[in-house]
Amino acid sequence: MSQTEFDPKDFRRALSQFPTGVTVITTLDAEGNPVGVTASSFNSVSMDPTLVLWSIDKGAHSLSAFENAEHFAVNVLSRDQVATSNNFASRGEDKFANAEYTAGLGDAPVLNDYAAQFECKTWAVYEGGDHLILVGEVLDYRYNDDAEPLVFARGSYAVSAQHPEMVKSSAPCTANEDDFVGDYLLYLLRESYQLFSADLYPKLMHECGVTPEEWRILARMISCPAIKISDLVGMVMQPEAALRETADFMTDKGLVEYQDKNTLSVTDKGAQVAAQMKKLAQSEETALLNQLTSEQSAQLKDSLKTLIEKLG
Ligand SMILES: Cc1cc2nc3c(=O)[nH]c(=O)nc-3n(C[C@H](O)[C@H](O)[C@H](O)COP(=O)(O)O)c2cc1C
Repeated sequence: MSQTEFDPKDFRRALSQFPTGVTVITTLDAEGNPVGVTASSFNSVSMDPTLVLWSIDKGAHSLSAFENAEHFAVNVLSRDQVATSNNFASRGEDKFANAEYTAGLGDAPVLNDYAAQFECKTWAVYEGGDHLILVGEVLDYRYNDDAEPLVFARGSYAVSAQHPEMVKSSAPCTANEDDFVGDYLLYLLRESYQLFSADLYPKLMHECGVTPEEWRILARMISCPAIKISDLVGMVMQPEAALRETADFMTDKGLVEYQDKNTLSVTDKGAQVAAQMKKLAQSEETALLNQLTSEQSAQLKDSLKTLIEKLG
């Protein structure tokens, strides 16, 4: 037993400030059935020998399969694989019914889609409190240079993007008058997104007391005061377990309540905060767009909507 009595949810929330990638780790059980779990605890360990590690909850259905496996495969997911992550984060069910895969080393299943893949021989299994730490020797690997990795941070799925400061500082290095980067559409969109959100999110916290994750949920509830957790999962890009933890924090703050165990509804206080949030977000948007003429700002929104439609 630990000497320190931390609140487990709060401790997990602190840990979630450390962003990770998302993997699906696969093996065969004793009967030769494929098993797999979504895991963000994957990390590199050693170059010589080539070792990686991850940890599995002792309560997982697939614990004994991994504990006894001679081989396992680490499938690092790409940004298009949120559904795969959610599928393998579900408990027990036949997760491979929805997956395309082939047999890899030691017949451990390897997914057809991945950002990277590491085929491992189990090298050591260590005790790690309520988890087992599995160390694998990488016997083979491959990766897709054109796949963007899926990121997991603060309980939400995310994508990696170059830090805006880096783009800014690289722009003036050239004596060339032709500022290709500074004039490129992706740069302009990302820079305006980053600058606007870096301004808005702290204000939402200071003035309305909500985190970005809570803002995403409450904003949905303005038009839909009761929502099924399973519907919210796709809307706010959180896996169900993480979403329930966010919802628990919101319940503690009195913003939402469970109508039943699968449905969240907004409380009177939550509706008030949502209205306050909406007012703040709109006034921030107005202040920004007031830098343009009303014609320019209408045109900007129309053009962006057209681009999103064409790209989508
Ligand atoms: C993004 C994400 C990361 C996760 N990371 C881990 C992990 O590192 N280790 C673990 O044991 N479970 C992790 N889980 C939870 C398991 O995927 C989940 O408990 C799954 O149901 C276990 O499957 P099983 O019970 O069929 O073995 C994670 C879930 C998500 C959504």
